[in-house]
Order: sequence, then structure tokens, then C-alpha cells
Amino acid sequence: MSSSAKKTLATVVGVIVVCILVACTQAPRSSVAAEAAKAAKPDPQTVVTDHMAQWKLKNPERAKNWVEEEKERHKIQPPADNSHLLKGEQGKGHAYGNYTEKDILMWARETEKLVVEGSRIFHNADLLGGTIGVSCDMCHPDASNTHPETYPKFQPQMGRVALLRDMINWCIQHPVRGKGFSGDDPKMRALEAYIIAQRKGVAMDYGKH
Ligand code: HEC
Repeated sequence: MSSSAKKTLATVVGVIVVCILVACTQAPRSSVAAEAAKAAKPDPQTVVTDHMAQWKLKNPERAKNWVEEEKERHKIQPPADNSHLLKGEQGKGHAYGNYTEKDILMWARETEKLVVEGSRIFHNADLLGGTIGVSCDMCHPDASNTHPETYPKFQPQMGRVALLRDMINWCIQHPVRGKGFSGDDPKMRALEAYIIAQRKGVAMDYGKH
């Protein structure tokens, strides 16, 4: 999509969101209150759905299921399955004894979300800050030939030992023609997470050319 088409789309989405917000604030509050009073016990499912609807209105960007959409678009390695931690001898006093299945699931989801965010940036020249419409996947489909397991290693073109993030920036600055990100930039953290995740199972071998 061209950037002018994107701008138009963004404007249209913006106008729709504003209209929905205006419509909600104009809704007759008295009738809502009367109905709420009538229902002695609100149905929990309705309460949850209402909360969700309000949250979506307030967070239109985050409400889109971008994690599932990105996973459908690109092959992404899943994080490790840690369900064994709560089985067998695990009990009170043990390092993982105080955690639940919900915790383990949350860790996996959060980890995967960062990796999926990295995939989104890796495949998008605009998010990379590129100036010539080139994204990483054009030369590294599914993060191939990025060899994160070989870092740190001496990079002759830099004249020093490089970390993975240095090479990511090298490619953003040269083939992609962007500015590059600081080590702490959320985009750099996500790119690193994605590239490393894609090499799941490959043995670490730092310094290898
Ligand atoms: C036009 C093609 C091209 C694009 C686009 C590109 N790269 Fe590269 N990339 C290369 C080449 C060529 C090398 C090898 C450079 C070298 O080792 O001298 C490389 C090397 C790398 C390496 C190190 C690989 C190794 O074996 O050590 C990483 C990591 C990397 N690229 C990440 C990225 C990321 C992230 C992006 C997007 C921001 C990107 N590349 C975009 C061509 C590209």
C-alpha cells in the first residue's frame, strides 16, 4: 500500500473511531442506568463483553488481533513448552512451586508477542525507518542467513567484535537505508527477539564465520 493510501486509510479509521466515541457519549445515560438497576444480578458474560467493548474503543490499535494476523502471515517458531515445571515433584519450597498454569501460559504468550512484534518490523520497511521501501525479508526470508547463534563475532567491515544488534543496525543503515536503532529501542529488542527465535534448536557457536 502506498504511503498516501495509508494516510487516507488512517484518516478514515480515525473519523470512524471519533464517530463511535461521540455516539457513545451521546447515548442516554438514564436508560442505561435504569436497565442496570433492573437487572439484580448482571450476567458475568455481559459484563466481560461490555468491558471488552469499552477497552476496544479506547485502544483501537491494540484491539486488532495483530499477533494472530502476523502468525498467519509468517512462519514463527513457538516458544519452549514449560508445562513440565508444574508436574511431578514440583511443590511448595521449589523455585517454581508458587507459580500456576496461568503464569506459565502468560510467560509463553508475552514472549511470543515480542517475537511476533519483531516479525512485524522485520517485514515492514516503514517500521524499520527505511527510505527505499526495502525490508529485511527481501534478503533474509523467515530470517534466514542472519545466524544469530554466531554472535558475538569479529566483523571485518566494522573492524571490531559485533553483537547481533550491531549487524541488525548495519543492515538497517546500508541495504535498508534507514537510521538504525539504539540497543534499548523497543524495535531493536523486538527484532533481536524475532531473529534469535527463528534459530530455535541451532547450537550456539559464537565467533563462527
Ligand atoms: C539487500 C539485501 C539485504 C537486506 C534488505 C538486509 N540484509 Fe542483512 N545482510 C545482507 C548481506 C549481504 C549480509 C552479509 C554481510 C556481511 O557479512 O558482510 C547480511 C548480514 C546480516 C546479518 C549477519 C549475518 C551473519 O551471518 O552474521 C544480520 C543479523 C542481518 N543481515 C540482519 C538483517 C536485518 C535485521 C535486516 C533488516 C533491517 C537486513 N539484514 C536486511 C543483505 C541484506
